[in-house]
Amino acid sequence: MKTYKIALIGGDGTGPEVVREGVKVVEAAAARCGFHLDTTDYDLGGERYLKTGEVLPDSMLEEFKQQDAIFLGAIGHPDVKPGILEKGILLRTRFELDQYINLRPVKLYPGVETPIKGKGPDDIDFVVVRENSGGLYTGTGGVSRQGTPQEVAIQSMVYTRHAVDRCLKYSFEFAQRRNKTKTLTLCGKTNVLTYVYGLWERAFHEMGDQDFPDVKRDYGHVDAITMWMVKNPEWFDVIVTGNMFGDIISDLGAMVQGGMGISAGGNVNPEGVSMFEPIGGSAPKYTGLNVINPLACILAGRMLLDHLGESEAAALIEKSCVDFLESGALPGLSVSHIQEAGLSTSAIGDAIADRVANQ
Ligand code: IPM
Ligand code: MN
Repeated sequence: MKTYKIALIGGDGTGPEVVREGVKVVEAAAARCGFHLDTTDYDLGGERYLKTGEVLPDSMLEEFKQQDAIFLGAIGHPDVKPGILEKGILLRTRFELDQYINLRPVKLYPGVETPIKGKGPDDIDFVVVRENSGGLYTGTGGVSRQGTPQEVAIQSMVYTRHAVDRCLKYSFEFAQRRNKTKTLTLCGKTNVLTYVYGLWERAFHEMGDQDFPDVKRDYGHVDAITMWMVKNPEWFDVIVTGNMFGDIISDLGAMVQGGMGISAGGNVNPEGVSMFEPIGGSAPKYTGLNVINPLACILAGRMLLDHLGESEAAALIEKSCVDFLESGALPGLSVSHIQEAGLSTSAIGDAIADRVANQ
């Protein structure tokens, strides 16, 4: 039987609780579709750091490289200074495993409420491809005269043609594979960031002309894109952008599709080991209470399986989530909705796993 090695990083706060449900559902799909998961738990996050001073041991990173994929819950601890865990675990894994794509589907599922009046599932179905290795995230820069009135701080937006090209290639191919309107929108800021987005724009049109004549090309400045994502989300199919703009617009996308309770993402190395996660935070105040919504993590599990080529299992999970949402079992996705419905994290996981097993 085909076996996949999956690293599980529950991480902080409610991360472990939602990953448990994600794995439950992925395993139910594996059983249906005839493959097997060989999971390894990795104890990472704020508690480990506070106890041992270790953020991410090198040996673990080496073990990650031997996996087929990584399933991550959440990183972020209230007693740890912001940045230590995020940079030390999440960003370091992205960089060292060269997960140069951050994939964020923005899809409004039937039965989920969007804050955008008058829009429904037919209008909200696009994907943000965020470049995940460069831009403002490389840490290039520095500070001088710190603590003086003359303090200077520089944090540079760094892009190489190579980094831009590989991200664009992935995005064009993604638009082809997705086969919706086959439109790729470049989100930039060519009116101000002329060097960096000038490079992106040239590379975009050169690659489009040469290799992807069947994919329509569109361009929007990032500030305009944020307006259109709200006003006319139906315009979009695949949006590609740099790291910082992608970080921002993918959170806007998460709200458009119904919130953090339903939003999943992937840190993808198309040639290597990828990592999938619900994009919400660690929600420390709900830790251990079994009240947080596991749907986003279950949908991250769907993305993980899709990435491994198990598209039938992935579709089974998506359909089960949609059936569950449409059944009206949940009046909304927040903690109070879950409590109001008399449900819990594990009960939602059970309900979806059950649908996966019995579809
Ligand atoms: C994300 C997060 C991270 C980012 C943080 C936690 C470092 O916001 O995955 O989008 O900025 O990339
Ligand atoms: Mn973010």
